[in-house]
Amino acid sequence: MILNTFAFMQTRMITPNSFSWKGVPSCSTRHQMKIACRTKVPRNANMQKLRNSYLFPEIGMRQEAHMEKYPDAKVISLGIGDTTEPIPNIITSAMAEYSLALSSYEGYTGYGPEQGNKPLRKAIAETIYADMGVKESEVFVSDGTQCDISRIQLLLGSDVTIAVQDPTFPAYVDSSIIMGQTGEYIESNGKYEGVEYMRCTPENLFFPDFSRIPRTDVIFFCSPNNPTGHAASREQLQQLVEVARRNGSIIVYDSVYAAYISDDSPRSIYEIPGSKEVAIEIASLSKFAGFTGVRLGWTVVPEELQYSDGFPVGKDFDRIMCTCFNGASNIAQAGGLACLSEQGYKAIQEVVNVYKENARILRDTFSSMDLEVYGGTNSPYIWVHFPGRRSWDVFEEILERTHVITIPGCGFGPGGEGFIRLSSFNHKECILEASERLRGLFA
Ligand SMILES: Cc1ncc(COP(=O)(O)O)c(C=O)c1O
Repeated sequence: MILNTFAFMQTRMITPNSFSWKGVPSCSTRHQMKIACRTKVPRNANMQKLRNSYLFPEIGMRQEAHMEKYPDAKVISLGIGDTTEPIPNIITSAMAEYSLALSSYEGYTGYGPEQGNKPLRKAIAETIYADMGVKESEVFVSDGTQCDISRIQLLLGSDVTIAVQDPTFPAYVDSSIIMGQTGEYIESNGKYEGVEYMRCTPENLFFPDFSRIPRTDVIFFCSPNNPTGHAASREQLQQLVEVARRNGSIIVYDSVYAAYISDDSPRSIYEIPGSKEVAIEIASLSKFAGFTGVRLGWTVVPEELQYSDGFPVGKDFDRIMCTCFNGASNIAQAGGLACLSEQGYKAIQEVVNVYKENARILRDTFSSMDLEVYGGTNSPYIWVHFPGRRSWDVFEEILERTHVITIPGCGFGPGGEGFIRLSSFNHKECILEASERLRGLFA
């Protein structure tokens, strides 16, 4: 039996140099095909700049190859951060009820407002941003944060400069490359030309030294951070907002993991005074309510946020949502509204607590082995340091000897070299089993 969250990968076939979806020819086979007609359309030069493989498919390929090598192994995935626990009934019932009503004249609804249904926008403003002064008109409901990152890039265009934490979630840089904001990949340092990589390591308490970072138009900032698991403190976020205000930059603040914060670290950038003039916030119910497959998120663009010419950023974002999106699924929005009801909120918090307990187990496992371990208290991710070793080597050793999938830290940027990331998104029994095996390997 395979205990993992990579079920979708299981339908894939692996060839030595490529992989494909079942039934779809692999790249190598496709190249051997006789093509009778080739278009005259040039390939997007920005797409050509992207490195061959996005991190997660690469991990999937290695997992698949491992399973072929050890067909009887019980592989446990602590790799990709996909949720595993069922969505509470109170939320699925609301979605089921809404879907069934679509079969009646009274309950049928077609397109909704592109910005999201009013009651949901209101609930997000009042529940997630209570006391932060976020208005419902500033909340744009979406199909998730990954999609919003790309829509924000579309909003900003190709002439802006960006900074990212290093290490960080790969979508910020990849979408920036696709938009044409960057130069080429530099093999020698693992960075893209034109991107400011803000080193965030244990030495600087996972917070960039802004005195050494040149100004950029946009600063992508994720807290709690994926992969390091670090939640920025209030003082750190005050500093971030100060820098953005001084430099006239826009912060794109990713708070997807805010529900995992256990201490008094801010859950939103809008807890910081002065942030509304410089920050967009992106968030979703993916990791909060197990909506990774349902798809529901939101972006907050405050009225106070303006371009250099005084034009409100929110007005342009509204235009982007109307042009490039057509509103989130009304069924998903019904589920979202149920998540934000008093009972729904309690129910989803209980599920988050399951993953937090898993994170604690993993953190304790590595701490007991005298390894340097970070994250796991305000985040579902554990970040473990293996000084002097390369991430992919550690990844391979763990996989080969324990059949546990992790993520090599270098996949999140050059600053992640020497680390691996483990995710607490799995069933508790799998976490316990993985911990046992890891203890056996490193103790
Ligand atoms: C930091 C971060 N932002 C965004 C996303 C994408 O989330 P969504 O499912 O809302 O698209 C992820 C997913 O793992 C993530 O780790």
